[in-house]
Amino acid sequence: MKGIYLITGTSRGIGQAVAARLLATGNRVVGISRTPSPLDGKPGYRQVLGSLADTDWIETMLEGVKEDLDDDRIELLCLFHNAALVEPACAIEACIADDIRQHVAVNLTAPMLLTARFMAFFGGLELRKKVAFMTSGAAQMAFPDMALYCSTKAALSMFSQCLGQEQADQSHGFEIAAINPGMVESDMQKIARAKDPARFRPSEMFRGAKASGVVQDPETAARAICELLQARTEMGKTVSVTK
Ligand SMILES: NC(=O)c1ccc[n+]([C@@H]2O[C@H](COP(=O)([O-])OP(=O)(O)OC[C@H]3O[C@@H](n4cnc5c(N)ncnc54)[C@H](OP(=O)(O)O)[C@@H]3O)[C@@H](O)[C@H]2O)c1
Repeated sequence: MKGIYLITGTSRGIGQAVAARLLATGNRVVGISRTPSPLDGKPGYRQVLGSLADTDWIETMLEGVKEDLDDDRIELLCLFHNAALVEPACAIEACIADDIRQHVAVNLTAPMLLTARFMAFFGGLELRKKVAFMTSGAAQMAFPDMALYCSTKAALSMFSQCLGQEQADQSHGFEIAAINPGMVESDMQKIARAKDPARFRPSEMFRGAKASGVVQDPETAARAICELLQARTEMGKTVSVTK
């Protein structure tokens, strides 16, 4: 199946690996990040340079995607909310206000805003359409010093479930999916492992996970994630990638 995938956070980590795999199998990717992806310049890839903390670029990007839809081989249009921040990761009283605002803006407000505009913009299109959210085990499991990350991921998971119910009985509606990738090697994992356990209590758990081999490489995770993006999964529910 050929698709157009709008993916946030393609400059590195899981987002880059997912985008690379989709391109290799003949799809088009519009990647959104503040720094350019190493994929910029590859056939089928278009880079949107922008921050999810400031979403002024959304309308221009959606207009550009509309032009890409002229290709009648396109069978799926998918928005994949992959980008997220783990910082600030510390006791809540040590977090400063601007960092809290930035975290919620990137992890929660931007996916909500972008989804709203994407669905309003392409709602009339008689094509398979999908919105997928990257969640985490942290959406269901509480950790000290990760209150912002756990809370924004839990909110995203509930957002996905509510949209799943809204779209379930629509003709030509949007498929809604949430994906928990499991632990995957990336800058986010490195940040978590490198932290001082006196300020970030889960750091030992992250180091232990790496030592015990449960952390997947991004390419392995990307293979499973791409299959889930292309599959029809239960509306709004989280599907987990397990090693
Ligand atoms: N790695 C894991 O073990 C793991 C486990 C569970 C869930 N997840 C989830 O998987 C997703 C990807 O994680 P990862 O580990 O690949 O993270 P990562 O390596 O830290 O990459 C994060 C990506 O998000 C982008 N990003 C961050 N802030 C942004 C902003 N303001 N505007 C636009 N883009 C921004 C970054 O691009 P720029 O910096 O260039 O903007 C980067 O491409 C996240 O949703 C994460 O919560 C990861």
